[in-house]
Amino acid sequence: MGGRGWQQRLDALPRSRPPGCCCGPGRPTRTLEQWKRNGFGPWAAIEKQTGRWAGRIGLDELPDWPGPHKVEVGWELHREFWGRGLATEGGRAGVRYGFETVGLERIISATMATNAASRRVMEKCGLRFQGELPMAGTVVAWYAIDRADWQDARQPAVPGRTCRRLTRAPGNPS
Ligand SMILES: CC(C)(COP(=O)(O)OP(=O)(O)OC[C@H]1O[C@@H](n2cnc3c(N)ncnc32)[C@H](O)[C@@H]1OP(=O)(O)O)[C@@H](O)C(=O)NCCC(=O)NCCS
Repeated sequence: MGGRGWQQRLDALPRSRPPGCCCGPGRPTRTLEQWKRNGFGPWAAIEKQTGRWAGRIGLDELPDWPGPHKVEVGWELHREFWGRGLATEGGRAGVRYGFETVGLERIISATMATNAASRRVMEKCGLRFQGELPMAGTVVAWYAIDRADWQDARQPAVPGRTCRRLTRAPGNPS
């Protein structure tokens, strides 16, 4: 698909973010730039049965994020693909890729505070609510997961161990 085709299809995705956060014109360029710069970025989500392009999912660097950990896991699917667990499946794959392959220490995710579906997907991907921030004229809710907590959650339960490690206090984006 040529550059204009990508732009049109990406522009047709439903938006849930403040302008300038990641959506809007320039998104394909920004995606390609981060793949070149970082060696990772959003994936194309392809429906396995049909090969159709469903949207984009995965790691996405947010250069303007007001904290040191600027790589988020995110999802944007065309409406016809909602409600099938695809965002959760892709989001979990993104988290795993970020920790196992990229070597990130912390992965964040942010959405408009009113986006209950996306917030639910963040929780199902293992991220925990950190707080709300004003951003570009709206309120953003943000979530995060640390590598150590992700690894702990993947370990089989150890008899006698009742507490999980708390590596970072919730609050500011640090
Ligand atoms: C958010 C979005 C990615 C969800 O995709 P999806 O594939 O339907 O998500 P999943 O099926 O994996 O999970 C959705 C979860 O949210 C829940 N949910 C859906 N709508 C909800 C609502 N209005 N309120 C509360 N929970 C809701 C579902 O019940 C499900 O949780 P459950 O499995 O515990 O029942 C999709 O709606 C989308 O692309 N929206 C537009 C773009 C967007 O908002 N992107 C996120 C930017 S941060």
